[in-house]
Amino acid sequence: RLKTIILAGGRGTRLWPLSRELLPKQFIRILDNRSLFQKTVERARIFSSPEDIFIVTNREYKFRILDDLSEIGDIPKENILLEPDAKNTLPAIYWAVKVIGDNCKVAVLPSDHIMDSGDGYIESFKKAMKLADSYLITFGIKPTKPHTGYGYIKPGRNLGQGYEVAEFKEKPDLETAMQYVEKGYFWNSGMFMFRTDIFLDEVQKLAPEVAEAFEKDIEEAYRTVPEISIDYGIMEKTNRSAVVPLDTYWNDLGSFDAIYDALDKDENGNAIRKEDGGDLLAMDSSNNLFIVSRLTSAIGVEDLLVIDTDDALLIAKKGESQKVKEIYSMLKGRG
Ligand code: GDD
Ligand code: MG
Repeated sequence: RLKTIILAGGRGTRLWPLSRELLPKQFIRILDNRSLFQKTVERARIFSSPEDIFIVTNREYKFRILDDLSEIGDIPKENILLEPDAKNTLPAIYWAVKVIGDNCKVAVLPSDHIMDSGDGYIESFKKAMKLADSYLITFGIKPTKPHTGYGYIKPGRNLGQGYEVAEFKEKPDLETAMQYVEKGYFWNSGMFMFRTDIFLDEVQKLAPEVAEAFEKDIEEAYRTVPEISIDYGIMEKTNRSAVVPLDTYWNDLGSFDAIYDALDKDENGNAIRKEDGGDLLAMDSSNNLFIVSRLTSAIGVEDLLVIDTDDALLIAKKGESQKVKEIYSMLKGRG
């Protein structure tokens, strides 16, 4: 029996103005009117029954989580862990693992990706379940470009179902990422699988301040625990990890460029999303992303990202959408 921890407590900054502090990426309904979070729960259901699925999120998102869940089914309320503060993924996972207890096999799923959960996914998960008796498992995606927002994994000794991890490097700079892609490293998909006893041992050893913080009650734990991701805190340091290649469609939707790639296009290469009240009349326009929430028209434009919401409009050139993060920081700075 596999238990699943779903991480749903991150805040969106790269998808402004579509995502806000109160509507982070995981709750956006970008495809077939399901949120990325709901689609993640559906993926979790492939290997875990409802009572074996645990959700870790921020207190602020409680009602959004409950609303989303009410549309798709029946995760027990006590399996929803509400964090008083956002301290990144290691504390979130650690808390859930403590609640689940010793000697269980768990998968950890982020909720900010879209991916195909067909045969490729199922095969990789089955392989991972075999290796998870001895290793912390990551799932490796074959890179398509030197993206600096991902972790990179160098495969080592062949284990049949996967490889020992020879090196794990979180978010390298561009030059390093280019070398990694050339040398055949994998991207870290952000999904993990492990036995809880192995994970607890590794945290004890490699991030003891996290383990210590959780000896107190949750409020106190979150006041004192350092902010750290599982990637920096454990995966870069452990020598008990293995990577299972994952050969399936996977898109972390980290930018509007990625969203453009993920959506269906019309015959002119335009990806069009009409929010409530949105409509579009486009003439001589091609290869644009239009997310519109009022009557919008476009004439003779190419390669633009146009994201219009009730109270903010973003217009960017395709290929430049990583910089939305900077706009977002500037806006925050203005208060
Ligand atoms: N509960 C909780 N609390 N969840 C969180 C928190 C938190 O404080 N912070 C982030 N999350 C959730 C996010 O909502 C997301 O679903 C998941 O954890 C991963 O966090 P991100 O912040 O999106 O991480 P990342 O995308 O920068 O990097 C990770 O994913 C990449 C693949 O997309 C890393 O694992 C990389 O190595 C990996 O390549
Ligand atoms: Mg992410």
